[in-house]
Amino acid sequence: MLDNRQIDLSSYWMPFTANRQFKAKPRLFTSAKDMHYTTSDGRQVLDGTAGLWCVNAGHCRDKIVHAVQSKVAELDYSPAFQMGHPDAFELANRLTGLIGPEYSQVFYTNSGSEAVETALKMALAYHRARGEGQRTRLIGRERGYHGVGFGGISVGGMGNNRKAFGPLLPGVDHLPHTHNLEKNAFSRGQPEWGAHLADELERLVTLHDASTIAAVIVEPMAGSAGVLMPPKGYLERLRAICDKHGFLLIFDEVITGFGRLGAPFAVNYFGIQADIVTAAKGLTNGTVPMGCVFARKGIYDTFMAGPENLIEFFHGYTYSGHPIAVAASLGTLDVYAEEELLTRGAGIAKHFEDAVHTLKGKPHVIDVRNLGLVAGIELAPRPGAAGARAYETFVKCFESGLLIRTTADIIALSPPLIISKPQIDEIVERLGEILKTVA
Ligand SMILES: Cc1ncc(COP(=O)(O)O)c(C=O)c1O
Repeated sequence: MLDNRQIDLSSYWMPFTANRQFKAKPRLFTSAKDMHYTTSDGRQVLDGTAGLWCVNAGHCRDKIVHAVQSKVAELDYSPAFQMGHPDAFELANRLTGLIGPEYSQVFYTNSGSEAVETALKMALAYHRARGEGQRTRLIGRERGYHGVGFGGISVGGMGNNRKAFGPLLPGVDHLPHTHNLEKNAFSRGQPEWGAHLADELERLVTLHDASTIAAVIVEPMAGSAGVLMPPKGYLERLRAICDKHGFLLIFDEVITGFGRLGAPFAVNYFGIQADIVTAAKGLTNGTVPMGCVFARKGIYDTFMAGPENLIEFFHGYTYSGHPIAVAASLGTLDVYAEEELLTRGAGIAKHFEDAVHTLKGKPHVIDVRNLGLVAGIELAPRPGAAGARAYETFVKCFESGLLIRTTADIIALSPPLIISKPQIDEIVERLGEILKTVA
């Protein structure tokens, strides 16, 4: 849809955006359908990133649109505390059915960040409920991204997201990240080297004592910090060490949830059960903000031990289980099921892998890595101007009709799961051509 309005852009303080740079030369979308956005000047842009890793079924799918439209006219809001509405319970049942029998409960939030805060608080309160309230320490990982709440940036490991915000949560420590280009450049799938990095958790145990540690949180595949794949055996070792010491393992599946790796969740893909799993994004196909937290069997029961008239978990949001978000999610799950999208990635992952690895040898490319329907293409930074090269690539891609995402000098590709093989080829060919023009 063409939109020629001359809008004053000054009042909107945009998130995670170089505001002045953007407003000097804005990029505006006005509509979207399936694999494409339309810009305000009427151009089509192929979506190589599923929006922000969230539009897994493609844009403006009829079933989801209609689910939202009919619900908003029927039940606009229902109080989240001490009240409910049937759809919220139906959705929880469908979600636990999807992730598998290990998980028995779902807690609703409005975003991935809130899902992370909820998961961290759930872990602390769980240990307290079982009489180990001294377990308050949380372990994250360098280069982890867990949203923007104080808990999330505390366990997160991206310096720019932390440095302006003071001392953050006390009692947090970090595992080293697993990214190593010398050992693992141009890996296909999970890299061979790096499982031993999970043993660093034992070092933190020696330092802090196991009895003080409540939980370990990692993204099974780190997305936002630049597409960092878990080395073979790494997650298994993390799980084993957590079991040994009684730590809860939290998988932040805000990106990997809902089919990104070719299985419904990373816990299914890797066959490793976390104790708590966060999700968001693909939960509603990005249509309405929503997140959720899955709790493994037994966690909820631990909370249910006190008097029945007492609130068991002093936590929640006005919009937890909002009827419109729930409707969007139910519609989304229908589309996922009808088109088998949550496993579709498995069938086209090989084509995607072969395609993205043709970027090896293109100008500036120092690594290509992939898993499921995610790829990271790392560029050599321009001397003295980290991130500038990838940003130029991003802008040129947008201008040529392709949406990619960049973090520092890493390009992330994570297209909607409905993508066709010719569209995969189109993304890669276009990106390869543009890299030839980037200084
Ligand atoms: C792993 C992970 N956790 C949490 C978040 C935060 O989600 P939101 O932006 O919905 O708060 C993100 C967002 O990209 C994410 O990738």
